[in-house]
Amino acid sequence: MAGVRTEVLHRVTAACVLTLWFSCSHVIALKSQLFTRLGVSPSSTETPINYQTLYFNQKIDHFGFLEDGTFKHRYLVADEHWKQPGGPILFYTGNEGDITWFCNNTGFMWEIAEELGAMLVFAEHRYYGESLPFGQDSYSDSKHLNFLTSEQALADFAVLIENLKSSLPGAQHSPVIALGGSYGGMLSAWFRMKYPNVVVGALASSAPIWQFPGMVPCGDFYRVVTQDFARSGYNCDASIRKSWKAINNISSTASGLQWLSEEFSLCSPLKSKSDALGFKNWLQETWVNLAMVDYPYEANFLQPLPRWPIQVVCKYLGFDSTVSDDQLLHGVAQAAKVYYNYTGSSPCLNTSQTATGSLGFLGWTYQACTEMVMPMCTDGVQDMFEPEEWNFQAFSDECNAMFGVRPRADWAGVVYGGKNLASHSNIIFSNGGLDPWSAGGVTFNITDSLVSVVIPEGAHHLDLRYSNDSDPPSVRAARALVVKYFREWIKQG
Ligand SMILES: *[C@@H]1O[C@H](CO)[C@@H](O)[C@H](O)[C@H]1NC(C)=O
Ligand SMILES: *[C@@H]1O[C@H](CO)[C@@H](O)[C@H](O)[C@H]1NC(C)=O
Ligand SMILES: *[C@@H]1O[C@H](CO)[C@@H](O)[C@H](O)[C@H]1NC(C)=O
Ligand SMILES: *[C@@H]1O[C@H](CO)[C@@H](O)[C@H](O)[C@H]1NC(C)=O
Ligand SMILES: *[C@@H]1O[C@H](CO)[C@@H](O)[C@H](O)[C@H]1NC(C)=O
Ligand SMILES: *[C@@H]1O[C@H](CO)[C@@H](O)[C@H](O)[C@H]1NC(C)=O
Repeated sequence: MAGVRTEVLHRVTAACVLTLWFSCSHVIALKSQLFTRLGVSPSSTETPINYQTLYFNQKIDHFGFLEDGTFKHRYLVADEHWKQPGGPILFYTGNEGDITWFCNNTGFMWEIAEELGAMLVFAEHRYYGESLPFGQDSYSDSKHLNFLTSEQALADFAVLIENLKSSLPGAQHSPVIALGGSYGGMLSAWFRMKYPNVVVGALASSAPIWQFPGMVPCGDFYRVVTQDFARSGYNCDASIRKSWKAINNISSTASGLQWLSEEFSLCSPLKSKSDALGFKNWLQETWVNLAMVDYPYEANFLQPLPRWPIQVVCKYLGFDSTVSDDQLLHGVAQAAKVYYNYTGSSPCLNTSQTATGSLGFLGWTYQACTEMVMPMCTDGVQDMFEPEEWNFQAFSDECNAMFGVRPRADWAGVVYGGKNLASHSNIIFSNGGLDPWSAGGVTFNITDSLVSVVIPEGAHHLDLRYSNDSDPPSVRAARALVVKYFREWIKQG
């Protein structure tokens, strides 16, 4: 990792904590940027999945003519239910990670392939998984990272589809529908906007396309997290709101730090003020992650979780205002262990746990530091976190130190239309009411064909997961509505 300032990155990642989607409050603004990933590993993969892995020679640079090299772009194809000729193609616009992971986790596509007679294609996002434009050097410096943009990724998808349609017998007239969740959902929506000639429509699940400067209030994200806790148990949000001061108080002495480390069974005891800061960030991320995976059934995400995990967490947090700091933090420790030790197999809690191998933490950080600038803030009143303002300058400075580039705060709004989308068509935006990313999503109908589907009991793209007996009626209805739109688009296509 020569050119990228590894020492800075190391400082960033070591001191604050990265569970998967999120990270680092103490890197001031950077925390909000380290985003979301499609949730939940397949644990009990209901339908066995079968696909072919293929590679396409893709241009490194679609928008300039000097760099004429190509790279192997990975994509997965499942065509056992495909009706030839002309059967539809459901095309997953890959996010910031190994595409096999998203393929394994998007049960919805596997479940509807047969009824639609559809071929499934999962296309990897460049710079992730195996689709590395410069092989091992792809992340070596900002020159090599220069082609990591959402625009290039969308162009990859478009060129790949055009190629598939012209080379696959029976696919020439196949209507293509884009699907994606989270960042992948943002891509599927943008894909339909930018390439309406290539896809007849898009499902953008839990896609915060408005989580950009000036589009939604920066505090809404954490407000949704807080509401999830408030509705899941007596005084649950109030106890967490109170816990930060208690941690500050207790961690002001060496014996307090030791007590805290023991209560939480930390792998590495807290030694300093800055350790305590890292600890609070890790805890904050834990609550945020829980909000994203608050699913109605037992699911295995980073670690296995019970059904409705926030309700389980909140059982340990139902305190009155008279609770002592020690009692409160004892409860908080029990609550954190629901997340980290549900199966009882964690010997200790590791506050520097990072993303899983299949997800591209560094790549997303670079994207957040260039195009994907997503302001976040907290006030401690409407949310249950310590107040922290959005500080673009500090964020930009961190990015500059890490990659030698600075973010362009307004670019996403310029290139993808901001809130002025009415001239587009055939996009479904689905959002879960429990999902904090719904704060940056489209939660009202813009036109007859820019449709918002709200799933009040849904966490992060619940609708894209395999269906389950415990699914709330709202997600069943959402899936049915989506299929109805798909059928219409296919007919038109
Ligand atoms: C996806 O599932 C396949 C088998 O179904 C497995 O070989 C592969 O490792 C999985 N990928 C990830 C990233 O979990
Ligand atoms: C700080 O902790 C001490 C000792 O545990 C306790 O007596 C005191 O009330 C706490 N102060 C605040 C402001 O919570
Ligand atoms: C996790 O749970 C097991 C079984 O209850 C327990 O023995 C272990 O101490 C717990 N780990 C932590 C870190 O609390
Ligand atoms: C904690 O996690 C970090 C990062 O994944 C890892 O390097 C370290 O070995 C872990 N520590 C323990 C005690 O498991
Ligand atoms: C948008 O319109 C669809 C179709 O009429 C409807 O089912 C859905 O509930 C509407 N969404 C919202 C957020 O009102
Ligand atoms: C639903 O989820 C539970 C818990 O993960 C799992 O055991 C079950 O197999 C899933 N499937 C169905 C069809 O309900």
